[in-house]
Amino acid sequence: MTPVFPPARTPNPLDAPPLRWGVLAPGRIAAAFVTAVSRYTRQRVVAVGSRSLDRASAFAAEHGIDRAVGSYQELVDDPAVDVVYVASPHSEHAAQAGLAVAAGKHVLVEKAFTRNAAQARHLVAAARAAGVLAVEAMWTRFLTQTDVLARLLADGVLGEVTTVLADHGQHFAPDPQSRLFAPELAGGALLDLGIYPISFASFVLGAPDSVVATGSRTATGVDAQVSMTLSTGTAQACLNTTLLAATPTTASVSGTAGSVEITGPFYAPASMILTTADGRAVREPDPVAGHLGLCFEAAHVAQLIADGATESPLLPLDETVRILETVDEIRRQVGVRYPGE
Ligand SMILES: NC(=O)c1ccc[n+]([C@@H]2O[C@H](COP(=O)([O-])OP(=O)(O)OC[C@H]3O[C@@H](n4cnc5c(N)ncnc54)[C@H](OP(=O)(O)O)[C@@H]3O)[C@@H](O)[C@H]2O)c1
Repeated sequence: MTPVFPPARTPNPLDAPPLRWGVLAPGRIAAAFVTAVSRYTRQRVVAVGSRSLDRASAFAAEHGIDRAVGSYQELVDDPAVDVVYVASPHSEHAAQAGLAVAAGKHVLVEKAFTRNAAQARHLVAAARAAGVLAVEAMWTRFLTQTDVLARLLADGVLGEVTTVLADHGQHFAPDPQSRLFAPELAGGALLDLGIYPISFASFVLGAPDSVVATGSRTATGVDAQVSMTLSTGTAQACLNTTLLAATPTTASVSGTAGSVEITGPFYAPASMILTTADGRAVREPDPVAGHLGLCFEAAHVAQLIADGATESPLLPLDETVRILETVDEIRRQVGVRYPGE
């Protein structure tokens, strides 16, 4: 008998009660988020805030958003906004999500949650004190394939897990003007791309007992490429991230009784291949392709807020902080510090 994938328990994104969203920082991912939410959920993006009213107005016109404001403070103060999606560069998340929290707004904060663990601890404490929900927008965590993997692990289908392999590399021509290469914006491979394999390893193995990393830096001084081994008990995760080349972006989990491969890009809706002594099974990806999968995180957050929760059980805030502690240690080993750290 071939192995069988358990069904995902992930709710249909259309089932989440509609909340009123404000988008803070109308850049590339904000556009993808608004598109996904408007197509696959009942969530309503009611306002967008930029440091420039012109940019906010252009984004609002393009995406059919009613209200555009020329400061983040105005956005978070808007009484018509229930929850703020923070989509600025990593260096800015702590202060800008902090603005929303101080205004009593729930926040979904793009990955990486903040530029380091100290900032994350501070933001988490502020959100807890304010009694608002805060979630890191690590969208992979909220996809159906991740729930299927959780079930396979909980059911012991893979036996004792020994090995996690995952990579996320994309090729970017060196550009000192790009946020990816800018130390002051907490650029580099780790926070943009490496955070996916690191979060994946955390999901499967939990907190590492040991972190060993080696890497290279860009001319601007951020991490260009990093290879990491995170060990937990007898299990190891071997991970790579790079700005220098497009890598397969696959992930796998292997154990004494079987393995699961997630095809590239593993962080988006993807196929899964389950191999055990009984044979091999393939699970097709969700029909929502690529960044349209952002609909799952938005729906999850809306449901949590409607339920009165202040964090996600699928990505608890303590885990978000712990992941950044791991990244801090990796950065220490490869010699990357952001200005002012
Ligand atoms: N989930 C995903 O798949 C995914 C994909 C890509 C990126 N991301 C994450 O999303 C975040 C933003 O990435 P992005 O690629 O969308 O960036 P982007 O296109 O450069 O947009 C970032 C926006 O942040 C605002 N901003 C605020 N302070 C800024 C500053 N000091 N310098 C520059 N811009 C500033 C700008 O908008 P205004 O000036 O108009 O306010 C800008 O449009 C990052 O955390 C990144 O890791 C997630």
